[in-house]
Amino acid sequence: MRKYLIAGNWKMNSAPGGAFDPGSPYQAHADIDVVVFPTYLDLERCIKAKIISGPQFGHIEEHGAHTGDISLKMCKDLGSIYCLCGHSDRRGEHSETSEEVAAQVTAALEYGLHPIVCIGETLEQKQAGKTEEVLKEMMAPLPLESDITIAYEPVWAISRGDPDTPAATPDDAQNMHALIRSLLPKDRRSVTRILYGGSMKPDNAEALLSQPDIDGGLVGGASLKPEAFQEIVDAASKLTK
Ligand code: 13P
Repeated sequence: MRKYLIAGNWKMNSAPGGAFDPGSPYQAHADIDVVVFPTYLDLERCIKAKIISGPQFGHIEEHGAHTGDISLKMCKDLGSIYCLCGHSDRRGEHSETSEEVAAQVTAALEYGLHPIVCIGETLEQKQAGKTEEVLKEMMAPLPLESDITIAYEPVWAISRGDPDTPAATPDDAQNMHALIRSLLPKDRRSVTRILYGGSMKPDNAEALLSQPDIDGGLVGGASLKPEAFQEIVDAASKLTK
């Protein structure tokens, strides 16, 4: 009923070798949705290569005096389909507030982009027993009645280059996804996709993706390795059959 969505977030990394070749794992897939978030420098190449893609961040205004920024509207006009909003890197390194993230989501919808909005607690917040409170605070200003995708990315599970970072267990991730789903408006609960992000890899993808409330993955490190990304795409595809 909810189609799997596997998204690769390349973060501040160049496109992996062969990414733009026909038949690369980043290309649109028959059974599931595959999306890539490259740097702005690779966005046009992705679009020309018919890779469903979008920016990792975009300014909410169409244009103007915002040195160093690129607008969501410009990315839409280039041919983007999706956009990321509120990744923990942006909330942390650029002090984006939940209200600012919600404004990006609203702007993206206005421009006709599909937003994937990231939420998740830090290790300190988890250890302080504040996970539910944090998720509610991040979700409160979002237009949850709209057609958006949520990515639950516990910050403590994001690899940040360390391949030994443990992902959330499938059970724990499922519990969090069920909680997030319960916070959606009733009529959106069966349709809004909730992706898991944080050290998703070929060896845990199937176990995570087979949970009833996990509708896909937002993949960082493994999305930079075409073979690993292909295996995750294959795991999702297999589960649709
Ligand atoms: P990793 O898959 O490297 O843990 O990154 C997850 C993430 O932050 C995707 O947005």
